[in-house]
Amino acid sequence: GAHHGEFACDVLESARKDCPDFFAALRYRIIEPFPVLQDRQSETLAGFEGKIEWRESIDALEPFVGVHFSNELLDAAPVHLIVSVKTKTGSTDWLEKFVTLNDDEFAFLHQPIDNRKLRDHLQKLPACPASYETEMNLASLDWIENVSRKLARGYVIIVDYGYPRDEFYAPHRSAGTLQVRAQHRLLASPFEQIGHADITAHVDWTSIAERAAACGLQVKGSTDQHHFITGIFSELGRDSLWQDVDSKTKRGLQTLLHPEMLGRSLQVLALAKNVGLAPPLAGFKFG
Ligand SMILES: C[S@@+](CC[C@H](N)C(=O)[O-])C[C@H]1O[C@@H](n2cnc3c(N)ncnc32)[C@H](O)[C@@H]1O
Repeated sequence: GAHHGEFACDVLESARKDCPDFFAALRYRIIEPFPVLQDRQSETLAGFEGKIEWRESIDALEPFVGVHFSNELLDAAPVHLIVSVKTKTGSTDWLEKFVTLNDDEFAFLHQPIDNRKLRDHLQKLPACPASYETEMNLASLDWIENVSRKLARGYVIIVDYGYPRDEFYAPHRSAGTLQVRAQHRLLASPFEQIGHADITAHVDWTSIAERAAACGLQVKGSTDQHHFITGIFSELGRDSLWQDVDSKTKRGLQTLLHPEMLGRSLQVLALAKNVGLAPPLAGFKFG
């Protein structure tokens, strides 16, 4: 999910400039299901012809040794919307929110849950009050299973908006984390501007890490973006890094780093397989 290909372009440019041997050995694969975005990415990456290949899904990717990197991919995965109800006996049960038509209008319809995987995963939730609305991202669990199957040796680095499970399903978060945005405006419902709005939900990091461990991946670190980038800077010599950059790049970096901007809300989880005694990753040295 490389969107317009800027991250890929930055990685390849800096590898070519600073680590030519690494660049010579590097093969870059982009997993992108949408042809329109593949076209956009190949325009951005025109200077790297022959270096990059596209695959439309993880399934279509050959087993690899290397790093799987994703940024804001899992928050775009489809989620199940669920709502808690009090049963006659006083216990809490869950219903799923389905979409129906009321005359010509889309509306939600609450129905019992017969999806086995969803019911099983609900057992992991902490107790929630009645009428508590939230989401469950089962697609992200299938995704990490598929990635781990393809990774022969190396790392999976996931950057996304999320919380550990207890924080995700904390009693006060009673309206869930689903967000609908169009033209940088928050919309009230996913039934507004259908096809144009960006619909996201936060990631339950605990569930991802648990499923990853069950698939043979080892957690190598988790922290927020501020600490991750600061750790890497300190390894590279942060002062010189700030001195060399123009003011636009400096402003961009501040947005990524500042705790009130993206520094805290974005987090990083690193997983590994068969990396033996590889040194710890610099991004996790501060947290
Ligand atoms: C919000 S963008 C991510 C931002 C982008 N990684 C960046 O850093 O600019 C989501 C990307 O994931 C892609 N995507 C959506 N579903 C996907 C899937 N199942 N597998 C891989 N990529 C997917 C989208 O087409 C898009 O390129």
